[in-house]
Amino acid sequence: MSSAWGDYIKISIFGESHGEGIGVVLDNLPAGEEIDMEAVLHQMARRAPGRDRSSTPRKESDTPRILSGFLQGKTTGAPLCAVIENTNTRSADYANLTVLPRPGHSDYPGFVRYGGFNDVRGGGHFSGRLTAPLTFAGAVCRQILLRRGIHIGGHVYAIAGVEDTPFDMVNVSAQQLDALSEIYFPLNNSEKETAMREKIEQARLSLDSVGGLVEIAAVGVPAGIGSPMFYGVENVLSSIMYGVPAVKGIEFGIGFGAAQLRGSQDNDPYEIKDGQVRTKTNNCGGVLGGITTGMPIVVRAVVKPTSSIAQQQDTVDLQKGVNAKLSVHGRHDPCIVPRAVPVLESAMAIGLMNLLAERGKL
Ligand SMILES: Cc1cc2nc3c(=O)[nH]c(=O)nc-3n(C[C@H](O)[C@H](O)[C@H](O)COP(=O)(O)O)c2cc1C
Repeated sequence: MSSAWGDYIKISIFGESHGEGIGVVLDNLPAGEEIDMEAVLHQMARRAPGRDRSSTPRKESDTPRILSGFLQGKTTGAPLCAVIENTNTRSADYANLTVLPRPGHSDYPGFVRYGGFNDVRGGGHFSGRLTAPLTFAGAVCRQILLRRGIHIGGHVYAIAGVEDTPFDMVNVSAQQLDALSEIYFPLNNSEKETAMREKIEQARLSLDSVGGLVEIAAVGVPAGIGSPMFYGVENVLSSIMYGVPAVKGIEFGIGFGAAQLRGSQDNDPYEIKDGQVRTKTNNCGGVLGGITTGMPIVVRAVVKPTSSIAQQQDTVDLQKGVNAKLSVHGRHDPCIVPRAVPVLESAMAIGLMNLLAERGKL
């Protein structure tokens, strides 16, 4: 597996869902950065399962134990290592998945790739649980970014076709993003929560699942960050965001919507505002030529419906070489979109730290 990422601020994520524990090593952080661990725990709680019926009943304390890199409330500059114990495992739920791979999950390609030696219990290293250490790392990084005037936040943009109000890509504010990052089910229009929850509940009752879209924004990132062709903002951010399990598509600004427009509609005209170069629209999502324009960076990610569903599906018996049927049991979210928000915010934070470090701006 390759679970190490980053050219400047490097993260390495280890562990398997039902092993002894999971964790992260975060290397090359600036020394002397004050980190509020309560705020880190709050971000991890937003990601944690078992908060309501839309989420898996697996409850874990998810409390990270910091082994190195942090002393008297500040980073020391040594690798920051945090370990989270696995305490609530029910491996029996996964006993048959080595033989009967779940449609939509990593069981079959993982079996081929690792010759059957990978740990499939609880999804092993492919589990959504591995996003807990990612969220820890991102929550640390976003505090460092905050000190440099960069605010990150996101919302559930859509679940099963029910849409929230999208970000105003020109005027999204630091206060708006800060407020969203406090909430478990973050929405710009909180009235949409009931309809979204109804869709999730309907899916759960029919032994099914639903997916959706997450929209993440960052404000305060200066113009001129990113190095094309291959260290552009889009390259770096999508590279880490695709590391989040269940993410199947990413777009910046209006993204695929640009295909429908003329240049005169898609171009973001410039203006001088408050003595600064700004754009009147922000269809490009704050990135042109892989480089930040100084406008808000806006990214949308597709989070697919959870693959582990109790409904009977076709699969194969890898031992007998015959077709088979499978209903997945165990504790699975009928919708992981809300939990993916803090994870994607974290991925954005770690990505931005690397982009700033590359330009010597950290
Ligand atoms: C926070 C989070 C929780 C997840 N929980 C589950 C789950 O309970 N059941 C499941 O089948 N997949 C879950 N996933 C997604 C799978 O890990 C993922 O679909 C699988 O590894 C296959 O990878 P892919 O969908 O990226 O191709 C979760 C993902 C995230 C981000």
